[in-house]
Amino acid sequence: MCGIVGYIGNLEKKDLIIGGLRELEYRGYDSAGFSVLSHGELHAFKAVGKLINLEQKSKDFSSSGFGVAIGHTRWATHGKPTEANAHPHSADFSHVVHNGIIENHRELREKLECMGHRFLSQTDTEVIVHLFEEYLKECGDALRAFEMSVAELKGAYAILLITQKEPNKIFYAKNASPLIVGRGKEGVFFASSDAPLIGWADEVSYLEDGSVGVMDLENFESVGQISKLSQDRSYAQKDGFRYFMEKEIYEQHAVLLESMMGRIHEGRVELEFENLGFWDGVDEITICACGTSYHAGMVGKYLLERYGKIKTNVVIASEFRYATPILKDHELFIAISQSGETLDTLEAVKYVKKSGLKTLAICNVDNSSIVRECDEVLLTRAGIEKGVASTKAFATQVMVLWLLSVFLGGKRGVLSVQEIDEHIQAMIGSAKKTEVCSKLHDRIKRLSKRYLHGHGFFFIGRDVFYPLALESALKLKEISYLHAEGYPSGEMKHGPIALADSELFTVALMPQHLLYEKIKSNVEELSARDATICAVSSQEFDGADDMLYIQPCKHYMEEFFSMMVALQLFALEVAVRVGSDVDMPRNLAKSVTVE
Ligand code: AGP
Repeated sequence: MCGIVGYIGNLEKKDLIIGGLRELEYRGYDSAGFSVLSHGELHAFKAVGKLINLEQKSKDFSSSGFGVAIGHTRWATHGKPTEANAHPHSADFSHVVHNGIIENHRELREKLECMGHRFLSQTDTEVIVHLFEEYLKECGDALRAFEMSVAELKGAYAILLITQKEPNKIFYAKNASPLIVGRGKEGVFFASSDAPLIGWADEVSYLEDGSVGVMDLENFESVGQISKLSQDRSYAQKDGFRYFMEKEIYEQHAVLLESMMGRIHEGRVELEFENLGFWDGVDEITICACGTSYHAGMVGKYLLERYGKIKTNVVIASEFRYATPILKDHELFIAISQSGETLDTLEAVKYVKKSGLKTLAICNVDNSSIVRECDEVLLTRAGIEKGVASTKAFATQVMVLWLLSVFLGGKRGVLSVQEIDEHIQAMIGSAKKTEVCSKLHDRIKRLSKRYLHGHGFFFIGRDVFYPLALESALKLKEISYLHAEGYPSGEMKHGPIALADSELFTVALMPQHLLYEKIKSNVEELSARDATICAVSSQEFDGADDMLYIQPCKHYMEEFFSMMVALQLFALEVAVRVGSDVDMPRNLAKSVTVE
């Protein structure tokens, strides 16, 4: 997804801006660019593809002394990923970068074209800079002109604009797209997430929706609430692993313990709700999310209904808002999101808030838009996840949902102290099961070479292993670009079994402690039709062509976490063999802030 950085100060601006953009690379992008305004002159560079191309294009440029600069990584929405469409966009004497979507850009463009403005790109963004120059002509005051331009925009935006008419300043605006401004001893910095600010800014302000203003070296205090910025850079390294995704798979044991920390006690689960009466009257839950977070939500439904004895619905955020959903007074709305910036989920939260529903965020990023929008939050504490394919965030989302279901089971008097304690033991056991042993990883590396051809994969499972099957299929397709589907194993006979032949790979999730005999019959039906079966289980299964053994477990959730790791590694090793970009797969972005 698009990324923004900005700087006001004396440091060499090209290096600083490209360095900041590099910190945002993991979000995914297809072109990049920056503009520097120094000694009254505007210089802009843009390139399609990775940042190395932008460095190459600007290699002879440097900027000394005081100046302002803005930079951008673009993930194409309006217009192809070309150099002309890359940001910054310019008019006669101003340049702009923008994240989000300007929904009314067509009508604005038509109006501006009639006034004689000439557009160079197909983007929605370009209207901003033309509007600004038009209003400036009219009113002669740059801030007023910027405010008038922003007032015309409909949609989501984080905007930085620089202009030769006010050469020491950056104009900014924010609505529904994240934007942070920070101050350090070398100047003032802007970014669309924390990462580029680390090491430069000591204090930051997470701008609120509706913020519009102008920043120079003197007026940082004017931005509103200011907080300290954590300076932990360790996330940025791969710690010796080949890929961030691999590192993040290996980290799951540690982060699962983090997500339990302070929340489990002998015989009880305690969750940190600020409002003690938050649960009063809640008798139904709707979980809303996208992608991997949606799969975690599906697992949550089984757990909340089984242990919390509370009716739970799960909805895909992009489907929810426009479906005229029936909302009930006593319904709690849970938004699950790794990034906390997914626009579909964020907008769904805003929608239900208008009807007065209580909202809870299960999120990995504190201070993110979804966290700030919701009444309460349970942070998943997975640490920054850089791989575009989510792994440790999913693991911690499931753990938090399990904690929540047991918390509710205790609160609603449907789980005994002993049962709660058994869950706690199983949770600790589950975290242990995510420790990767080299024997398992080596076995998966060898196994992966047998699964590079064929006409597709079915991952099948029942109960919580069905959403795990969906998630495992998503992991494989995201990073290897092979076709994969997740399916409830009992449903195969209702249609998909027609595809079964030796070139159909079926990865069967066969837990010993949940419906083993049922899934075994489903897999036998496929095996009888010559499908190639890879069974994931602690139990030997005669009908399998390959076995992916997990360690024996005491609880089905331990088997869940154990299989999750094995299948993440399987996706990773297949992707490595097909030679795809594991951490930044094609066409994908880490955080999807468009509809
Ligand atoms: C996960 O591997 C995906 N890249 C994607 O499905 C992701 O889970 C989805 O876009 C939702 O993101 P969020 O959790 O940040 O809201």
